[in-house]
Amino acid sequence: MEKFLIQGGQRLQGQVSISGAKNAVLALAPSTLLAPGVHRLYNVPRLSDVHTMVELLEALGCSCEFRGTELVLDTSGLRLVRAPREIVGRMRASFYVLGPLLARYGYAEVPLPGGCALGPRPIDLHLYGLRRLGATIEMHNDYVRAQAERLRGTTITLPFPSVGATGNLLMAAALAEGETLLYNAAAEPEIVQLGEYLCQMGASIEGLGTSTLHIYGTNQLNPSSIEVIPDRIEAATFSIAAAATQGEVTLTHTRPNHLHAVLTRLTEVGCQVTATDSTITVRMNTLPEPSELSTAPYPGFPTDVQAQWTAFMLRAPGVSRITDTIYPNRFKHIAELQRLGAQIKLVQNTAIVRGGHPLVGTTVVSSDLRASAALIIAGIIASGQTEILEIHHIDRGYEAIEQKLQRLGAVIERVPVGD
Ligand code: UD1
Repeated sequence: MEKFLIQGGQRLQGQVSISGAKNAVLALAPSTLLAPGVHRLYNVPRLSDVHTMVELLEALGCSCEFRGTELVLDTSGLRLVRAPREIVGRMRASFYVLGPLLARYGYAEVPLPGGCALGPRPIDLHLYGLRRLGATIEMHNDYVRAQAERLRGTTITLPFPSVGATGNLLMAAALAEGETLLYNAAAEPEIVQLGEYLCQMGASIEGLGTSTLHIYGTNQLNPSSIEVIPDRIEAATFSIAAAATQGEVTLTHTRPNHLHAVLTRLTEVGCQVTATDSTITVRMNTLPEPSELSTAPYPGFPTDVQAQWTAFMLRAPGVSRITDTIYPNRFKHIAELQRLGAQIKLVQNTAIVRGGHPLVGTTVVSSDLRASAALIIAGIIASGQTEILEIHHIDRGYEAIEQKLQRLGAVIERVPVGD
């Protein structure tokens, strides 16, 4: 058990290299089940969520090996089409194995992933789409049992552009017989990369990055290799942390075009943002203006950046309103920010932030990945020492975050609980 100790009041300055995108790896790795053989993913971050996905694939019979930032996956020895409950229970993205297992092997059993700290997270859209593709699905002891000798292409309209459902259906439809039209699909960059990898394996998909996907099914896919895109949520987190400390930070190995909504918002509140194809420099000389925003599916403002933005707005004199339309219950960070002195009121799914009041360090507890990032930002802008407990949440999605922050001038250390 470890915790972070932060001495607040530092201004972040310097350069930080952005790691590969967690959510891209969590979709790419299960897609390798579609094509038995050796796949290579480059620029893979060492994160506990990635290790959980590797553990799941190994439990199914794949062999996986890290060589630095390369992940080599050999999916030729698959021996099980039943995902262990213990692993799926740890990470919702484990549900991504359902589509490829079903499409490749005609049968799969995956337990319900259940709720999580963000609130209830159903999988009805995944199952709706797979049924449309011809799968028979039944529930048995909280396990989803899906069966189909061969999936058949069809037209599917998602009521909501779910990232996970789009990913699962893309993978399933790639090996289905005939064409699938998927309306109201997710357009997140991680889904685009999944589609690009499926095409490299031999699938044919039109419309990636738009809300309508046209997938031409094929009989066989072949192993390939791909470089994982940079993590846009990590990049957004460092940009916001830089702005919150009135610092100046250059992010390298990033894709500014994936961050349009966040960079636009930063500019609107007074931040100077300059970008090249692969770098972003964020400079803030003043306190931010208050803001009003709502999260939305890509290309809108990401729900995965809502908590960090809320912490940032504690610096803005005046009233800010931050609404989460994707996860209306994703506000566990508010109670912890209040312990630091934040003036925030939650009205339904809107955080009303009265910014401009000083924060004072104390002990806070992480509840989920992005909430933890918000607490780190708050700890850096607070005076005195902030102690953050339960930091295993942050290790799910940020690679070596304290080392990256230390290089930018933050005073943060990871210490065993009890010290
Ligand atoms: C993915 C991301 C997560 C991000 C989220 C929204 C990964 C591994 N995780 O999660 O970081 O916060 O997108 O951008 O890529 N829903 C249903 N029924 C379903 C599926 C979803 O009602 O069958 C609802 C969810 O409860 C939620 C909303 O749709 O309210 C968004 O979920 P979805 O886009 O599916 O998110 P995930 O794929 O789980």
